[in-house]
Amino acid sequence: MKVRELRWEDFPALVENYYALYEEVREDPDLGITLPKERPTMAEEVEWFAGRYRGVLDGDAVVAVAEMDGRAVGVCVVDRKKVPECQHIGGLGILVARSARGQGAGHALLASALGQCRGKFDIVTLSVFATNSRAQRLYESFGFRRYGLLPKGVLRGGRYIDLVEMSLEPPRV
Ligand SMILES: CC(C)(COP(=O)(O)OP(=O)(O)OC[C@H]1O[C@@H](n2cnc3c(N)ncnc32)[C@H](O)[C@@H]1OP(=O)(O)O)[C@@H](O)C(=O)NCCC(=O)NCCS
Repeated sequence: MKVRELRWEDFPALVENYYALYEEVREDPDLGITLPKERPTMAEEVEWFAGRYRGVLDGDAVVAVAEMDGRAVGVCVVDRKKVPECQHIGGLGILVARSARGQGAGHALLASALGQCRGKFDIVTLSVFATNSRAQRLYESFGFRRYGLLPKGVLRGGRYIDLVEMSLEPPRV
């Protein structure tokens, strides 16, 4: 497994990994990631991918990709907030394909992405399901601290799930 920059050829694998979440959430209603109600169209996926790619070029995003056997199996994205007075903040998201979890990809992605955040973002934030203790432990091991809890932050299948809000100040370069 290696972690590297985003490449154009990652598009099909990243879309496949994301689409697979719709199957997974049916089997595991506790899956710790929020999804749009409908699976995004391919056109929307193109927009998402191009937006991240552009963000990297503009200095407004950090993207790390985990590759196994020549295929993108995970991605970590930190996007600059759009509101002018909050542009010192980056919002982090991470996803590792089901078949590749538990092998260190998440850890390696965070190490790479947070390293790239140095000097780019003063604060990195994320939201994590209160039920996702494995992800919370992972974030805490990188220095993320809980700054809040949004009770009933997610409504899935008629059930509320609390959202834990976490933040980290990456060391300046
Ligand atoms: C959360 C997620 C990104 C972690 O990625 P991963 O590649 O599975 O993580 P790693 O293999 O690097 O393991 C991270 C930590 O979890 C632990 N871990 C791995 N598999 C585990 C398991 N089955 N049960 C409990 N802990 C486990 C590891 O020991 C490791 O801890 P360490 O750093 O102290 O050794 C990944 O599971 C995922 O994408 N989940 C679905 C989407 C999601 O929840 N995203 C987070 C949204 S906030």
